[in-house]
Amino acid sequence: SLRIKTARDMLNQFCKYISENNPKYNWVGVYVLRKNKLILESYVGKPTIHEEISIGEGLCSQAIVQNNIVNEPDVTSNSKYLACSVETKSELVVPVRANGSPVGEIDIDSDSPRAFTKEDEKFVSQLSELISNQVKILSD
Ligand code: SME
Repeated sequence: SLRIKTARDMLNQFCKYISENNPKYNWVGVYVLRKNKLILESYVGKPTIHEEISIGEGLCSQAIVQNNIVNEPDVTSNSKYLACSVETKSELVVPVRANGSPVGEIDIDSDSPRAFTKEDEKFVSQLSELISNQVKILSD
């Protein structure tokens, strides 16, 4: 439908915009929670094998289960981390909520260790509110 197509186009533009404006954001994606799985709806960066993640796996699931931000300064030290790219050194996962419940998330990888500050957490949290409607449309 036009509604779904528009939501997808908006998420594509969103990923493009934030990756282009933040040089340390080397991979930017939006996962949508659908039938207890995280589906990669849109991304900018290298292709990943993790286009679908079952709840329970990885830092991406942790952000959903805890309904909270995951800011991992050193992915190599975290045994829960699911690797996408060997270049990735740190990761920030921010839930996207609708009426307080997670409907998806913004996932950002950096090739630099300790890339994400409290400011990044705040910035990406604010952005997550902007895409709440789009992510909700594409989730269950
Ligand atoms: N690293 C994530 C998997 C997704 S890729 O970073 C794009 C995780 O640990 O869940």
